Amino acid sequence: MKIKSIILAAGKGTRMKSDTPKVLHKIMDKTLLGYILDSVKNIASESFVIVGHCAEEVEKYVKDNYSSAKTVLQTPQLGTGHAVSMVCPYLEDFDGLVIILNGDIPLIREETLKKFVEYHNGLNSDLTIMSAIFDDPEKLGRIIREKDNSLKCIVEAKDATPEQLAVKEINAGIYCLNWPKLKTAFSELKNDNAQGEYYLTDIIGWAKSKALKVNAYVLENNEEIYGINSRKHLAQAAKMMNNRKMDELMDNGVTIVDPSCTWISQDTEIGADTIIYPSTYLEGKNKIGKNCKIGPFAHFRGGVEIADNVKIGNFVEVKKSRIDSNTNAGHLSYIGDSELGSHVNIGAGTITANFNPITNVKSKTVLKDNVKIGSNAVLVAPVTIEEGANVAAGAVITKDIKAWALAITRAPLKVIENWIKH
Ligand code: UD1
Ligand code: CA
Repeated sequence: MKIKSIILAAGKGTRMKSDTPKVLHKIMDKTLLGYILDSVKNIASESFVIVGHCAEEVEKYVKDNYSSAKTVLQTPQLGTGHAVSMVCPYLEDFDGLVIILNGDIPLIREETLKKFVEYHNGLNSDLTIMSAIFDDPEKLGRIIREKDNSLKCIVEAKDATPEQLAVKEINAGIYCLNWPKLKTAFSELKNDNAQGEYYLTDIIGWAKSKALKVNAYVLENNEEIYGINSRKHLAQAAKMMNNRKMDELMDNGVTIVDPSCTWISQDTEIGADTIIYPSTYLEGKNKIGKNCKIGPFAHFRGGVEIADNVKIGNFVEVKKSRIDSNTNAGHLSYIGDSELGSHVNIGAGTITANFNPITNVKSKTVLKDNVKIGSNAVLVAPVTIEEGANVAAGAVITKDIKAWALAITRAPLKVIENWIKH
């Protein structure tokens, strides 16, 4: 089935009080827009991101990170319906489904969107909206139903009567459209409402006037459409997302000693029987094997691949590195842009010096199997230490070391006796 998506991200996000556009704010190291684009990437063959406020920044982000997505400029921003109309010229001949989503709901899951599309197809629907039941729906658009329970319309809180405001079913801001049947709606929307905007939600009335089939899919878990409008929301959403990840990992056989103070990104995979100790922060895309011990206070910054039975201890930072099985880095180390073999031991305080701040070049450190690095060594990259070689404590390694050799840069120890007269 042909599916494309449209993500509405032109709005300002005033309540964030930020110079950064709302959709580029992050949960761990991924932007809100990134989560949305990832949630549709296996469903839609192409995504259009509507940009307006700080358009250049958002355009650059999309271009650099999501090459299959297109950005479409909306200036001025005359409402959600107007935003979608900006994409119409690109979809003139498209004859599949279009999913439309708000750009500020990072908790929406791919599985939910798949079910939503299945529901739409199962009912042979022309327009399906996602709804949810909220105890206190505040400013959200209310779903108004007919007596026979079919959909009548969506009324924005600002346009609603007190009776309509009492309705607890709300518009989640996610829509599935049979595009050929709905595409002409966007040139016919009106802005005669409290905000003087072209409302996307008015396509319901339009579809009904054309005798098209309109349905609502009621979401089971409200958390998924939690929208971010402030820094408090951002922190709250991060916590919810993290809790979801902790549950998923524990269900898959990972021990998390204290889920309340452990942070693990959605894009981190962890094998069974691995133990994650408290205050560990794993961001970015990482893959950790089975039976590993990570933390307490370990920090992964993404691009980390770890085989089985590896120990990464306290205050060890790892970035963009591959570590083979049975290797240990127990304490106070930095491992970046590195490849470590199996049965390697990294002494406390060891640093891979991977970055040259004068040339701005990052280089690689390679430690082959069975290499042993003494405490407080500095491995100045690019550097390769061949199999079984030893590096003595405190050494600064600036060239490749042969297999089974000992590298030592220490000045001879001098002891001057009777140094202090007493
Ligand atoms: C919208 C819905 C409301 C729903 C709510 C769910 C409309 C008219 N109302 O209200 O029924 O309950 O979402 O969160 O659609 N945007 C643009 N261009 C614009 C205006 C908005 O791209 O001209 C983007 C915003 O960046 C945002 C999204 O569209 O990501 C929603 O816009 P917003 O103004 O926040 O709509 P709500 O008032 O929340
Ligand atoms: Ca709004």
